[in-house]
Amino acid sequence: MVTRRFPEGFLWGGATAANQVEGGWKEGGKGISVSDCAHHNLDVDVQNFKKQNAITSKDIETALKTDDESLYPKRHGSHFYHHYKEDIKMFAQMGFKVYRLSIAWSRIFPNGDDTQPNEEGLKFYDNVFDECLKYGIEPLVTMSHYEPPINLTLNYNGWYSREVVGFFETYAKTICTRYKDKVKYWLTFNEIDSMIRHPYTTGGLIEDRFPGIEWEQVIFQAMHHQFVASAIATKICHEIIPGSMVGCMLTKLTYYPYTCKPEDVLKAQQDMRGTYCYSDTQVFGEYPSYLLSRFKNHGVIIKKESGDDKVMKDYPVDFVSFSYYMSSCSASSTEDLDVAAGNTITGIKNPYLPSSDWGWQIDPIGLRISMVDLYDRYRMPLFIVENGLGAKDEVKEDGTIDDEYRINYFDVHFKSMLDAIEYDGVECLGYTSWGCIDLVSESTKQMSKRYGFIYVDCDDYGKGTYTRIPKKSFYWYKNVIESNGEYLFK
Ligand code: BG6
Repeated sequence: MVTRRFPEGFLWGGATAANQVEGGWKEGGKGISVSDCAHHNLDVDVQNFKKQNAITSKDIETALKTDDESLYPKRHGSHFYHHYKEDIKMFAQMGFKVYRLSIAWSRIFPNGDDTQPNEEGLKFYDNVFDECLKYGIEPLVTMSHYEPPINLTLNYNGWYSREVVGFFETYAKTICTRYKDKVKYWLTFNEIDSMIRHPYTTGGLIEDRFPGIEWEQVIFQAMHHQFVASAIATKICHEIIPGSMVGCMLTKLTYYPYTCKPEDVLKAQQDMRGTYCYSDTQVFGEYPSYLLSRFKNHGVIIKKESGDDKVMKDYPVDFVSFSYYMSSCSASSTEDLDVAAGNTITGIKNPYLPSSDWGWQIDPIGLRISMVDLYDRYRMPLFIVENGLGAKDEVKEDGTIDDEYRINYFDVHFKSMLDAIEYDGVECLGYTSWGCIDLVSESTKQMSKRYGFIYVDCDDYGKGTYTRIPKKSFYWYKNVIESNGEYLFK
């Protein structure tokens, strides 16, 4: 029998984001971020993401008046801020080669527009990176993952303001300089495309602050600023850290035509372009013609400064990273068709696929399809930086957690990933499972939507001991990493 394993040096690991895992929202000189003001959704409706995540100025006013953590779950996260040594030790026990994490901008520049960085915040990440490096774990750092300081929303209207590009440049310079000997792999913005689905957490935008301006205009202007900032950050990173690699990060939404009716195929193609347009921009260094057509047809006019086009062209990304959780279907007419929830979207339900506890359709072959599509399109190394199963876990009386369902999910996705690498010739640098330790969900703000190999004893209201417990999948993943995938075929 032929032995199947991943390429030598494949970077296995896990991923988190500061706003969902750290807690310590007011400690160490940290400023308040947009995520610290995002309210718990007590009545989760996974089919109505828009409604669930609608944020108004009034909501922010209310949030800023209280120190409550139970209704603002990202304020407590999983207490990584205090447990990071223990957590990284557990990642090392699993054999992680890489740990993807984000730096909370508001820990470094509490208000975003400060002239001096917060030394205590910088020191915290020094400690975190040192802890990783002690175990031979490579940090992969996202510069911005839903963490703009709230001051930028209140005083500048978030990423709509050109000034924020300058603030981000200062932030990028500061962190690249400080961590130049510790961090080689960087991502600029997590899911830059999510500006369109949740403009508040991604861009610090609140609709009621833009009377008289088309909302789509606001969103794309803010996105343009992030594209420019991303190119500037790539330049800075390359100049300060020779040999560093900077990636874009895309939400890989994969759509299948519901039927072979040409209208459905066309609709699926259009939907796919709706997700590719952002990575096309960051890889090719310019807006693709079909996105320019969309701007034109929707009356969107992007205000550019001289030099924007050049910096975008001169500093495209070095690799393409993406999140992949589910796929969905597209149909030209949705009448009488069932709807399925997905990663901050809804789509037509695929009758051939099972769904997670939160209604996301589980599709391992879709991962292979996504990898092939992205690689054929860009001919650039890929990095899967998010994938996993949000599920309800139960601690048994003997204190163990038997998450066989999670093992099954990973098992089929890993095999599919290897098929793409081995049979389809895709170059993939590594894989970091999302929420390798339980953390607060982005879309629902629930703690009970768990992704981790490590259980954190904390409920949806932040109550619990925050004790860490390795789940069954913890030991399984350790075996996979140790054998570089061979264990999957035992
Ligand atoms: C990704 C985000 O799109 O999806 C993460 O980058 C998020 O921040 C993840 O947590 C899973 O989504 P959710 O809503 O289940 O937390």
